[in-house]
Amino acid sequence: MSYSFVSKIGFSDGKEITLKGWAYNFRCSGKIFFLQFRDGTGRVQIVYSKADIPENQWEALNNLKIESSVIVTGVVKKDDRAPSGYELEGKVFEIIQLAPEDYPISKKEHGPDFLLDHRHLWLRSEKQWAIQRVRDTVIQATYEYLHEQGFIKFDSPILTPNACEGTTELFGIKYFDEGSAYLSQSGQLYLEAGVMSFGRCFDFGPVFRAEKSKTRRHLTEFWMMDAEAAFVEHEENMKIQEGLIMNILTAVLEKNRKELAILERDVQALEAVQAPFIRMTHAEAVERLHELGSDIGTDDDLGADDETLLTSQFDRPVFVEKYPAAVKAFYMKRDPQNSSVALCSDLLASEGYGEIIGGSQREDDYETLLARINEHQLPVEAFNWYLDLRKYGSVPHSGFGYGLERIVGWMCGTHHIRETIPFPRLINRISP
Ligand code: 4AD
Ligand code: MG
Repeated sequence: MSYSFVSKIGFSDGKEITLKGWAYNFRCSGKIFFLQFRDGTGRVQIVYSKADIPENQWEALNNLKIESSVIVTGVVKKDDRAPSGYELEGKVFEIIQLAPEDYPISKKEHGPDFLLDHRHLWLRSEKQWAIQRVRDTVIQATYEYLHEQGFIKFDSPILTPNACEGTTELFGIKYFDEGSAYLSQSGQLYLEAGVMSFGRCFDFGPVFRAEKSKTRRHLTEFWMMDAEAAFVEHEENMKIQEGLIMNILTAVLEKNRKELAILERDVQALEAVQAPFIRMTHAEAVERLHELGSDIGTDDDLGADDETLLTSQFDRPVFVEKYPAAVKAFYMKRDPQNSSVALCSDLLASEGYGEIIGGSQREDDYETLLARINEHQLPVEAFNWYLDLRKYGSVPHSGFGYGLERIVGWMCGTHHIRETIPFPRLINRISP
């Protein structure tokens, strides 16, 4: 039997269709049964009258339990009050599997731990459904924009022999007779090899940080998109990031109106975001933060509170550039005008959602990079291949990496990023 989808219901106005999915909710008033049905693409109400369907189907309806899987057939009717714009006049009702009575998630308030313990079921709830759909749009818009800009997808490894972003947050594992291996913190270093072959490339996949910090912005496993480009310097690097974020925003506003409404997201705040983004140096940011009452030190990295304080001043994202080199990674190129700062930028989302992108121009001189590796007390042998990239046809190059969950959290207006990934990994959580 052919069947349709809730998302396509508008094409069948006045016609009879069959849908396969789950009973989200229901109520019965005497001889009328209202079924809230979902099929993964959306939700629709199906109205059954006792008089219209066979006795045994009416009985099945009255024994229905939440989240049972069902097949429904009905006639599509326009209904302006319905969220989907339509409802179905029920004709046939069939159960695939009748769930027991005790579906754990109900309309009442559940604590975050309870919900996270039931994440495998919580994902069916409307808000969680909406968030994952926005996530899908962000991923798709990212691929589209980068391909348009001439980047190719280049998959970096997850098992790596050394650190990319500092050694304190590494997950180590025993790797046969080779000793230790580490879960990747970012594919950046491998992308730098990629750009010397392809010019522009990006990766997109899970990365791992043994972050001790228990904040609403940190996961131990999250999805990063790293992009890297040969012959691109600091300024152009920021332009590419700005273009990417605008492309993502436009796509979400275009494709996810319904999801943003479910999430009760303040859409105006997203619509207000325009290029060019605000730009300031780290030194200017520190000065501003002092005026706003922060006690940040002149050479400190911005903390989460500082980021929130700073971005709450603007209606669009803020690039903070040229951080003190001492607080940033070994691979960043120094500013030729002032060697104490790096040619780097962090992009802070508006509305206080914090850092969404970290990027920089990379050190491209062999001797300078070697000196940095030694200064950072990193094992030079592990970086010989990386140094080779500066030996054979070195060119100026830059790149950046975004945290997918941070961007999705900002788009959706979610308080904690644990809801933006299907199965969050936090310092105190690895299941389900
Ligand atoms: O700023 P980060 O550490 O930069 C890098 O890893 C570079 N190698 C990227 C590059 O240049 N290719 O991380 C990049 C982004 C951050 O801006 C943030 O959005 C996100 O990754 N991020 C996290 N997201 C969730 N949980 C965590 N623990 C995160 N740590 C970083
Ligand atoms: Mg960073």
